[in-house]
Amino acid sequence: MTLASAPGKVILFGEHAVVSGIPALGSAVDLRARVMVEDLPGGLEIETNLPLKGFSLDLLAGRLSSKEALYATRYVSAVLEELGATGLHIKVESDIPPGAGLGSSAAIVVAALAALSSHLGLGLSRVEIAALAHRIEKSVQKGLGSPMDTALATFGGYLQVSSCVRELDLPPLALVVGHTEIPHDTRHEIDKVQSLRARHPDLVEPIFGAIGLIAERAVYLIKELKLAELGELMNINHGLLEALGVGTKELSELVYAARGVGGALGAKLTGAGGGGCIIALPGPAGGPTLEIALRQAGARVFHARTGSEGVRLGA
Ligand code: MEV
Repeated sequence: MTLASAPGKVILFGEHAVVSGIPALGSAVDLRARVMVEDLPGGLEIETNLPLKGFSLDLLAGRLSSKEALYATRYVSAVLEELGATGLHIKVESDIPPGAGLGSSAAIVVAALAALSSHLGLGLSRVEIAALAHRIEKSVQKGLGSPMDTALATFGGYLQVSSCVRELDLPPLALVVGHTEIPHDTRHEIDKVQSLRARHPDLVEPIFGAIGLIAERAVYLIKELKLAELGELMNINHGLLEALGVGTKELSELVYAARGVGGALGAKLTGAGGGGCIIALPGPAGGPTLEIALRQAGARVFHARTGSEGVRLGA
């Protein structure tokens, strides 16, 4: 049996502006997807603990242990097809909620590539895994997907991403993630923002510029652990994303609960918006107070430590 795991991610600053070439700042977090590979001569099985409904399946040539667990399997199927692999039993387990903007699919693809590379003796390097994973994720998502998620799942740590990817050496942060559990459509949110930009370039470009400055300044603030100022930047970035039209009532309710009773130093939506998650930086009252506030506001809550290790063999 061969086991590999890869981390999920959060976008800390710069979502949407990154689509127009402005560098964004993302980090791998300590929620992981694990993929186990065993030989199954003459068969092909994919088993998963992810209970998500509503996805279609077209590539799988084997048995599903749960008919509803199609999310992970379509990504694993694409990896198997890419590598021409068969005669295997693949088990996928993940701590990362799917469809939340936390890089679940990228982590599954990267962990699957690493586990299969080791099991089949393919000797793929990290750079090859990142490139292949990005191509596979994009093809399953019909052309959508920045290199951020697959690069963070592969290399871990913090990355600054624009047309290229730059690794940054920064200390970890203990964040609290509040999930609205409202599904969102990343393509729809990107199109909405880009259409706003096309109609009001003189207004939207400066907003992208301000988001870029925030993403840049945040690097220094994280390095120096100037957390109060970092929280302030999270609040400004959230306001700018609201201005771009990707906020929702539910996301804002979580943001205000985090900053209010939760005592957070700052809070913002993370990812495409329109649903999904917020991230909050605990204040002196600590993570547990923040967690209670977010739960009371209706969120599913995760604690996420940034700067986590990338793909590795083992759990
Ligand atoms: C989506 O998670 C983040 C966006 O900036 C899109 C992207 O970077 O691919 C909206």
